[in-house]
Amino acid sequence: MMETPICDFVRDYCAGNALRLHMPGHKGHALLGMEPLDITEFDGADELYHAKGIIRQSEENAAHLFGAARTLYAAEGSSLCIRAMLYLAALHAKANGLRPVIAAGRNAHKVFLTAAALTGLDIDWLFPENPESLITCTVEPEALEAYFAAHEKPAAVYITSPDYLGNLADIRALSAVCRRHDTLLLVDNAHGAYLHFLPEPCHPLDLGADICCDSAHKTLPALTGAAYLHFSAHAPAMLAEQAENALAMFASTSPSYLILQSLDAVNRMLAGDYPARLRETAARTAALKARLAAHGLAIRGAEQTKLTLAPKAFGWTGDALATRLLAEDILFEFHDPDYLVAMFTPETSSADFARLERALCAVPRRAPILDAPPIPGRPARVCSPRTAMFSPMEPFPVENCLGRVLASATVGCPPAVPIVACGERIDATALRCFRYYGIETCFVLQNTPTSS
Ligand SMILES: Cc1ncc(COP(=O)(O)O)c(C=O)c1O
Repeated sequence: MMETPICDFVRDYCAGNALRLHMPGHKGHALLGMEPLDITEFDGADELYHAKGIIRQSEENAAHLFGAARTLYAAEGSSLCIRAMLYLAALHAKANGLRPVIAAGRNAHKVFLTAAALTGLDIDWLFPENPESLITCTVEPEALEAYFAAHEKPAAVYITSPDYLGNLADIRALSAVCRRHDTLLLVDNAHGAYLHFLPEPCHPLDLGADICCDSAHKTLPALTGAAYLHFSAHAPAMLAEQAENALAMFASTSPSYLILQSLDAVNRMLAGDYPARLRETAARTAALKARLAAHGLAIRGAEQTKLTLAPKAFGWTGDALATRLLAEDILFEFHDPDYLVAMFTPETSSADFARLERALCAVPRRAPILDAPPIPGRPARVCSPRTAMFSPMEPFPVENCLGRVLASATVGCPPAVPIVACGERIDATALRCFRYYGIETCFVLQNTPTSS
């Protein structure tokens, strides 16, 4: 009989006692009843990217909950929404005679790069001043002002916030700068859907962003793939009008109604006791962070429902600590040599918090690990992302790639943040980063292009 390894793995995982400190936000607690609920777009069931009936009604409920002028559902994650946002930015550029260029914080997810290449937008990178890690890119409002002073106006500014380590950008100040320069602010808020439902709402829409995407599945109890594309009241009307076309351009024509039902069900929860439960989760997270800090563990990030440990000073790499806790069936969202990240939602019980705390406090302190992660410089640009991504390319061991031009979207550190972006030359610093993050091969251009 044919084996079913995926089904078997998932069944065993569910039957065990794993503490799920990773996505999705439902943490394995059943919300739906599965197959009987899995329908498709037939008469009366509405059409996701031409929504006039039940889907449109539900999207309007979501818009009301988030304080958005318009909210659209996506069943293929923030990845799809990012492609749609960049298409809209390209349309906006065309309609307003702007440069087809987007100014973006360097810690953008790799989907941003493929979306830029697909839509023909070029990228002006905004690099951080003093990064602790390439996963983080704090763009100061003054630096954004300086960018506007030195460049012709771009189609839009693009910021990733929260980042994977739980850092939040100053969206209020950045949006004020963008407003002064009459420029769209787009935010990759994949990790921040819940932010509007905290006692002090701090979702990008609350703080002045024009358009943003949220992965509902990362921090709300929606099924994997569930996402929102939100428009604020001050975003140009043409962009919200074109939004369904923009999503449809990159999406499957068979959206999952299980995912759509989960978004619909989440509305009811958000309108009910979810904000109160979220407040409790934030309080538990704050208490846990305080106790772990008192125990000697370094904490990073400002997000109220995420725990980012920087355990090298305690004598452990993030990877080694994750391996130790895996033996106790505790699984994290992310780990690398420097960090260990846990995500909490109201589905994380107080017993779960206590279990994590006990496990972390039982870890023996060791001599500090002193090496810091290498920070890539600003690799030289040779051609545009689009030129690079659509040119003949070949795979190469990274050790032989010094001086070659990257062709694949990125070579990134673990959460898909670019060390080098497509169209950039691989230099010695980049090679050090590749080694540090265990990257062994990458695709480079066969021939160096003469123009971008
Ligand atoms: C910052 C960021 N943006 C976008 C994405 C893509 O989101 P999704 O998995 O919902 O497509 C991710 C995925 O992890 C992410 O971390």
